[in-house]
Amino acid sequence: MKSIDFNDIEVQILSDENIKSIGDFDCGTPDLNSFIIDDALNQQYSLANITYLFFYDGKFEAYCTLAMDSITFEDEHQEKEQLLEEGIGYSTLPALKIARLAVCKSHQRKYGFGTHIIEWVFGGALELSDRIGCRYVTADAKRESIGFYDKIGFKHLLSEKEEKERDYPPVYFDLIILKKSKD
Ligand SMILES: CC(C)(COP(=O)(O)OP(=O)(O)OC[C@H]1O[C@@H](n2cnc3c(N)ncnc32)[C@H](O)[C@@H]1OP(=O)(O)O)[C@@H](O)C(=O)NCCC(=O)NCCS
Repeated sequence: MKSIDFNDIEVQILSDENIKSIGDFDCGTPDLNSFIIDDALNQQYSLANITYLFFYDGKFEAYCTLAMDSITFEDEHQEKEQLLEEGIGYSTLPALKIARLAVCKSHQRKYGFGTHIIEWVFGGALELSDRIGCRYVTADAKRESIGFYDKIGFKHLLSEKEEKERDYPPVYFDLIILKKSKD
């Protein structure tokens, strides 16, 4: 994999000013292309989510949209057992959701750009968890992109059978792993 210096990446919250630098962004997925141009700012004004733009060498290359979330584990789910071992009896836990994630086509699967963004999200979620409970990072993975989340260590919420009925199978990452290694 080629490398880029992620210290050179600038992150900005989407605004009336920087939306002009998005230009003809293409990540290969039409609804993710149109979301950033047509819907993201409006949804942000409505407090539905916040979109972050990633610039490399001054050029807009990727974005991710974040929102609050929660995740519910069924009684027989392995995560529920883990939580019970920790003395947590809740089935529903707080989470930060990656509502959208898109890297421009020319940078996909070359530089670890998407992975870097996820690590940045994990960092933000951990900071959040110091102030407000936040145990997981969640995403509704596009079927073709689920391998990307698997590589990072996200787990699947649903069984294989249940996933077959979903276009966007939900995945989650347990922040306690990072929290313990940080402390
Ligand atoms: C999915 C996406 C965000 C991944 O970002 P990326 O910068 O291309 O991925 P990375 O370079 O960080 O890849 C990390 C690893 O995941 C793998 N990977 C990336 N995309 C993958 C995919 N769609 N399926 C399986 N594996 C994938 C890479 O090959 C790499 O593996 P390696 O470490 O063995 O080389 C990006 O390709 C993208 O925007 N795709 C189109 C839109 C999309 O699907 N968004 C996700 C919506 S849920």
